[in-house]
Amino acid sequence: MFPELRMRRLRSGKIRDMVRETSLSVDDLIYPVFVDETIEDVQRTTSMPGVERLPLKMVADDAKQAADLGIPALILFGIPSHKDDQGSSAWGDEDIVQKALREIKAELGKDMLVITDVCLCEYTDHGHCGMVDHETHEILNDPTLPLLGRTAVSHARAGADMVAPSGMMDGMVGAIRSALDQNNFNNVPIMSYAAKYSSAFYGPFRDVADSGCCFGDRSTYQMDPANSDEAIREVELDILEGADIVMVKPALPYLDIIHRIKHEFRMPTAAYNVSGEYAMIKAAAQNGWLDEKKVMHESLLSIKRAGADMILTYFAKDMARMLK
Ligand code: PBG
Repeated sequence: MFPELRMRRLRSGKIRDMVRETSLSVDDLIYPVFVDETIEDVQRTTSMPGVERLPLKMVADDAKQAADLGIPALILFGIPSHKDDQGSSAWGDEDIVQKALREIKAELGKDMLVITDVCLCEYTDHGHCGMVDHETHEILNDPTLPLLGRTAVSHARAGADMVAPSGMMDGMVGAIRSALDQNNFNNVPIMSYAAKYSSAFYGPFRDVADSGCCFGDRSTYQMDPANSDEAIREVELDILEGADIVMVKPALPYLDIIHRIKHEFRMPTAAYNVSGEYAMIKAAAQNGWLDEKKVMHESLLSIKRAGADMILTYFAKDMARMLK
């Protein structure tokens, strides 16, 4: 006990660095990229300062910049010029994500792991992540599954290194795994958005990705923020269906979930530091209320400390620069 024991002894000088328990590395970062079929020039976004929508022709350059910063992976989101009831622009070989994949792979090959978000919400005219029964407004689970399988296969064919289903349909991981395997993509891993909450923190993303819902909300398929045991069940099922990496989303308001999942399953675990988490820090920093760099670093470090192995974050490039 005090005065013999003094915790402050290890808090200054070199020893402070040596006893540090958690570290953040550029290898932990996944950089989100938005490619927009409807534009010719880069388009800034208002709700997420620093995040841009890119035309196809600029995507490979942007990926190259990320690779030059040492970032190992990016996740691709597409904004199509055509939306319909089924989201059919999600799976064509000549659709926007497939074209962007080929451009990035031609430029970077194995120097960048390219992940694709597999979901229909950016492609459907109603903005939901699945098929809709227009009479009841129900989001239809089972008819959505083959469409997700088809989308994942088209991504793999265009060069995706990993697919990330984010629609929270039951059985989606199994459906995608068997579709990939039947098409000889046994080696393409699945990173499942396994515990994805129905969160108000996705607001800015829906502006950027143009994926807002026109009726209802996503609470019939995304999880209730009040639940934690349910996250365990969701993740367990996704692992049984063949998920290689499991994700918790959002990150900062759900650090307890990240911690539980990591310790329960010992699986490679990803966390999505979502648009609202990013926008809050940006807004406070722009007002001079917070030190942006320090708060970014502390936030990402806390996500790792909770148990995440990798973090999807709009800060990826800034963080990589800071770590250099
Ligand atoms: C769905 C998807 C969403 C996000 C990533 N994938 C939106 C949603 O579920 O409404 C949100 C990411 C963020 O807020 O940064 N395709």
